[in-house]
Amino acid sequence: MAPIQKLPMRELLAHLRRIQQQMPMFLHEVGQKYGDVVLLGQGKFSAYFLNHPEAIAHVLQENYQNYTKNTIQYNQLRKITGYGLLTNDRETWQRNRRLLQPSFGRSKLMALIPLIQEIIPPVIQRWSQAADSGTLVNVDQEMMELALQIVNRFLFGVEIQSEARQLTNAVITALDHLVERVRHPWMPPDSFPTASNLRNRRALRMLDEICLRIIRSAEASPPSEENLLAVLLQARQDAGLNFGDVQVRDEVITLFIAGHETVASALTWTWYLLSQNPQYYPRLREEIKTVLADRPPTEADYEQLTLIGQVFDEALRLYPPAWMLSRRSIAEDKIMGHTIPANALVIISPYAIHRHPAFWQDPEAFYPERFAPQTEKPRRFAYIPFGGGPRLCIGFQFALIEARTILAHLLARFQLSLPPGAEVHVDPLVTLRPRGGLWMQVKHAQL
Ligand code: HEM
Repeated sequence: MAPIQKLPMRELLAHLRRIQQQMPMFLHEVGQKYGDVVLLGQGKFSAYFLNHPEAIAHVLQENYQNYTKNTIQYNQLRKITGYGLLTNDRETWQRNRRLLQPSFGRSKLMALIPLIQEIIPPVIQRWSQAADSGTLVNVDQEMMELALQIVNRFLFGVEIQSEARQLTNAVITALDHLVERVRHPWMPPDSFPTASNLRNRRALRMLDEICLRIIRSAEASPPSEENLLAVLLQARQDAGLNFGDVQVRDEVITLFIAGHETVASALTWTWYLLSQNPQYYPRLREEIKTVLADRPPTEADYEQLTLIGQVFDEALRLYPPAWMLSRRSIAEDKIMGHTIPANALVIISPYAIHRHPAFWQDPEAFYPERFAPQTEKPRRFAYIPFGGGPRLCIGFQFALIEARTILAHLLARFQLSLPPGAEVHVDPLVTLRPRGGLWMQVKHAQL
């Protein structure tokens, strides 16, 4: 066994700016240059970068109990989400996952389809006007707004939409602060009264207050339609669970954060990729015409929209919203023959493994057909947009149903393109986002 490849500290420091601004691309290059298991940095400032499906499967599945989420990434997130499912490492994780899982069952998620139908008309109206007047639309913002409304309705129902708006603003402020802190770890600690820290503290206080208000009002008057908050509150009553307001708050904020920007980011990149590969537009419209004619999608149609599904899978491959996963080892471990010490930081990058040439043919190319059942090769842990193992994303079906439905509605009516000369740069924030938004031209399209 060859010794582990190392990327020494001085080389990391030489790339500091790129690491801060372009971490996923940097990791991809490191993988290609140094191999599939690489030790980055040294001593206290070291991390093991794993870029092979076997190594990833080991950490996420086979020996997952040896890996915690006690990492900078999750510790920062925990300041906002507390111990919600995504950041919870305690023994309560499994109980809470079981409690939430039924709300993500297929029959429950199918309710998203009519919901999307209800909230999409204003987007169609705005895009129609933009097509008529030739004005550009910021697709990044449009997708974010749609995803927010959907997750809000799923979590809270229709009743509290004005509070949901305040909640959104507080979460966005806190997430901006989190990105700043991860990018600039030498920033004064949160306890210092800098403008940014004070803004963040106010936002976190708002989050607590709004959540508590929402919980109290949901308890006082049962909702008119099923929503996740009501399910949680009912479950804690029925089962007499030791599930306080703080835990309800943590789960709700977690789902709110994990469930909107991720889907919005993937949809945004789908539009971008289609604009770069416009030959897919007629084929997608043909599929929509065959499956739906001119009626809105229903549950039965969902499986038939195969090319739309493949296009979205390919967007998730090239621009995985959750571009980095991190873990910390508990005990010493062996991964692909290499020793990983106890208490070591381990990094996995969906962005890098999704572009690894040993597992993907022509990895930089947009080729949705690679996900067609007849060509699909087993890709265990080489395709991990939703993670894997026991901590697999609870919302992955939610995301797929939401994305296919939104795309079917909009692709039936519109074709988007980039204005001439536009340049699009990837900004790796909490998810991958186009820097400065994604401004696109809209054209009417006919089925
Ligand atoms: C395209 C959209 C999405 C992507 C790419 C995505 C990605 C991921 C990934 C990679 C993980 C695993 C993190 C890790 O192992 O460290 C995860 C976990 C999670 N996701 Fe998603 N997600 C998406 C949509 C959603 C939605 C719609 C929801 C909820 C409404 C959601 C809720 C969660 C939760 C609660 C977890 C933690 C699960 C656990 O540890 O038990 N996600 N997601």
